[in-house]
Formats: sequence, structure tokens, C-alpha cells
Amino acid sequence: MTDKPVPPTTTDAGIPVQSDEHSLSLGADGPLVLNDFYLIEQMANFNRERIPERQPHAKGSGAFGHYETTADVSRYTKAKIFQPGARSEAAMRFSTVAGERGSPDTWRDPRGFSVKLYTEDGNFDMVGNNTPVFFIRDPLKFQHFIRSQKRRADNGLRDHDMQWDFWTLSPESAHQVTYLMGDRGIPKNWREMNGYGSHTYMLINEAGEKFFVKFHWMTDVGSESGNAYLGQDEADRLAGTDGDYHRRDLFDHIAKGDYPSWTLKWQIMPFEEAKTYRINPFDLTKVWPHGDYPLIEVGKLTLTTNPVDWDTQIEQLAFEPNNMVPGTGLSPDKMLLARGFAYADAHRHRLGVNYKQIPVNAPKSPVHSYSRGGAMRVQNALDPVYAPNSYGGPAAQPQVGGEATWHADGEMVRAAYTLRQDDDDFSQPRDLIRKVMDEEQRGRLVQNIAGHLADGVSEPVLVRAFEYWRNIDEETGRKVEAAVRDLLGGKSDEPGMASAEAVREPELAK
Ligand code: HEM
Repeated sequence: MTDKPVPPTTTDAGIPVQSDEHSLSLGADGPLVLNDFYLIEQMANFNRERIPERQPHAKGSGAFGHYETTADVSRYTKAKIFQPGARSEAAMRFSTVAGERGSPDTWRDPRGFSVKLYTEDGNFDMVGNNTPVFFIRDPLKFQHFIRSQKRRADNGLRDHDMQWDFWTLSPESAHQVTYLMGDRGIPKNWREMNGYGSHTYMLINEAGEKFFVKFHWMTDVGSESGNAYLGQDEADRLAGTDGDYHRRDLFDHIAKGDYPSWTLKWQIMPFEEAKTYRINPFDLTKVWPHGDYPLIEVGKLTLTTNPVDWDTQIEQLAFEPNNMVPGTGLSPDKMLLARGFAYADAHRHRLGVNYKQIPVNAPKSPVHSYSRGGAMRVQNALDPVYAPNSYGGPAAQPQVGGEATWHADGEMVRAAYTLRQDDDDFSQPRDLIRKVMDEEQRGRLVQNIAGHLADGVSEPVLVRAFEYWRNIDEETGRKVEAAVRDLLGGKSDEPGMASAEAVREPELAK
């Protein structure tokens, strides 16, 4: 109910309409007429009001606020937004990866963590996750990976068998699958969750010196250091009773003035060190140990404002990892380089070629580009429409050492990186289980994996999965196998398969 004067309903052309309820017909009982333009406009608009959903990360929501640099990190970057005291408006979106636009927020999945800073040098986007690593290191596997997590061709169902089939044939997934099956796979809410740029990016300072950097957005909310989680049972219950649980939580907290915030921290690796560091620093399946590269504080991001029109402000938000402002840039990480193409291409399909003119995507700094025309362009292009020109059109102003570049040489090959001393797929996830998780977290990890594996995974894939976990951590592998066999009702019928009793630990058999 409102006391305010109500404006007259109009068509989209601003013409007042005759009725909100009745179409124009030939007599009260007669047929409708084609010249009821308002009825036709309503039907036509309705038929077109959904845009295609994002391919991965379709389900999510977001909000707006501001970012401020609180420390002096100018020795690493000349980016204006990362100078002491610099501020910008910010947009954020959180998401799940595999579910569709209406899927439950509490399905087990990594969570997307996207940040857009509207800086004075254009938009800076950091499109990350709530985990510091990823499932694969070569972009040619990304499409296959996502398909394995979504739905089968025949029955349109999600299928744990194809998920584990892909993972166990891709041992580089071990680190991220360990995160996924642990508590981070179902965060309690988005506010108490850390975000990670995950990839290695580049920074360039005023003197042209280059550094490699990893971005960490550490939540300031709650006491669990970004590890607040939902148990599997609670998440399953919520998936059936409140599919929008995380979306609602964010909106309600911002609406009542309880603003979530994150502290931005960096790990910095000197440019030259990257050539010899014992772990390939561009491999997205690895973290940089904090002992070698400690976190330094940079700034703070706070969300203060909810969307007023979810469709235009959240669904049409377009993030792209290639949006890097001067003083920042990409790195030799092959996944990141591929993402530099993939996102803008997705937006051209999903939102149209002029998606950067949609208000939520438009930079808040001046645009002087040579793009023109195309569907739904709303900004005028100006003469001269070409460069170079002698008529005062925009001219590029190259800066010495301004671009994120590096030296590369060699034959063209199909290989994801040269292996270094400590490059293997299992040591880091083993450390995650043994050195980072406590006993209770390890217990939940085993339960979560076993519950997942006991739900529709075929025997040959199960056998590979047990080996996969034993390779990561012998004890976890044995416990997973025992728990799965228990859930499946004991001995396997498959010839050659170890029985539950043979592999079960004595204390588990009691
Ligand atoms: C969304 C591609 C890896 C995080 C998307 C979208 C595409 C895509 C096409 C949909 C974009 C849209 O329609 O708006 C890829 C490719 C990858 C890759 C080709 C690897 C080669 C990653 C990684 C991360 C990530 C490693 C995290 C570290 C996200 C997030 C979104 C997203 C958070 C949702 C963005 C939003 O909130 O609108 N990805 N992705 N992706 N991706 Fe990736």
C-alpha cells in the first residue's frame, strides 16, 4: 500500500493506456482486435523478457558498494586505484558454477566471486572463486569439465558418474576437488566467504618494474576466517525449502544496514623469481605457500546497496578477466589468457555487442573508443571514425613499460607447462588435508566424498576414485573406500574388487 499519488500507466512509448485489466474486444463477448497495441506490447515484451543465462555460473546475485585502498602498495603498481586512499564504486556478483538460473544456492559447488571496480582508468574486473585454485590447468579442458558437471545428453539429469569420471581421469583436479568436498563446497552464506583471484596476475610500477601477484579477498564478517559452512544435511534441506537462501541472506543483510566487507590482500612474487620458483607460479591448480609469499594488506571492499532492478543490474552484469587497468595485467597462466577471450565473447552472445553501454557495465570514466554501430548502441560515435587522423580524434598514448608483457620463446607444442622440482598433483591437496584441516574437517571431508560417490557412480569409476584419494592421502583414501562400501551395502559383486572388510580400517569396522 502507498499514499503517494499513482502515475498513469503508459505504453513503452509513454502513451497513457485505457485499462490495466481489459483488452479491447468487439462487444464484451466478442473477439479481440489487432489494434489493441497495448495488449500486443505486453504479450511481446513478456515473451522476450528472459535473456540467455550465463553458460557456467548461471545462478547468483549481487550488490553494489565501494572499494578503498588503505595501504601503500605503490612500490608494486602504478594503478591509480591501488594508490593510498584511492576509492571507486564497486559491483559484486556471487554464484554457483554448474546449476541453472533457478537452481538451489546450497548445492555443493565452488562459489563464483566477481568484483568490478569502476576506476578513473576504466573498469577493473577480478572474476574469481571462493577457492584459491581450479580443477584444470589447460583451457582446452574447460568446456569438457563444465559439461561433465552439468547434465547428461539422454535424460537431462546431473550425474555423479560423469563428474568423477572426468575428475579421476584429470589428476590435476585433486587440489580443487579436495576444497570442493570440504567445507568450502557449501558456504554458510556469501558474506562470510573469502574470494580469490586464483590466477597469477601482473603488477607494474611507475618505474616499469614488474611483479606477479595473487589476489585474496578475506571476509571481515564472522569469526571463521572465511570457512563458515553448511553441513550436507542442512544444505540438502535448504535446497528443498529455500533455493534462494544465499541470495536472500545477502539482500536482507544489506537492506538492514549490516554491510559485508572484504579486506584485499596480495601475495607478491618478484618477476625474476617466477622463472626459478620450485612450483610453476602460473599453474592454476597450485597455491603459493604463504610461508614463501606472505599476505600483505591492500584495501577494503564494502557492499552497501541492493539492486532495485535485478534484471538490468545483476543479470546484465558482465565481468571479464581481461578488464585490467594500467599498472595491472595478465600473466603467462594459460587458463587466464583463454579467459581473456572467453568472457567478452560470452557477453556479445548473451547481451549483445554493445554490452559495455548497459549502465551497470559502462565505465564511470570517459570512453573514447573507435567502436561504432551495432545492435542496441545508444552512445553516439563521433567523427573522425578512424585513426590515425588529423581531425582531433582520440590518439593512443603509449607509456614506456606500460604493458603486461613477458619474454617467450620456443617451438609450438601442446603441453601445459614444464614440470618443476615441486610440481605434482597430490602434494598440495595432501597438505590441505593433513596440515590445514583439523580432525573434524577431515571427518566431514570423508563423509562428503563418500556420500557423493555412493550416489550413482559406476564400479570402474569408483575404483579409480578410491585410487585418486589414496594418491592424495592414503588414510583418506582408505576411509573413503570403507565408507562408500558401507553406504552401498558391503561387498562388491564385481570380480577382482576388494571387499569392504578387506580394506576397512580396524577401528572403522567396529
Ligand atoms: C563465468 C568461461 C575459468 C570464474 C564464466 C562464463 C564463461 C566462463 C563463458 C559466463 C560469462 C557470462 O555469460 O557472463 C571460462 C573459461 C575458463 C573459466 C573458458 C577457463 C579457461 C574460470 C576460473 C574462475 C572462473 C578459473 C575462477 C577463478 C567465473 C565466475 C563467473 C564465470 C565467477 C561468473 C561471472 C559473473 O558473476 O557474472 N566463465 N571460465 N572461471 N567464471 Fe569462468
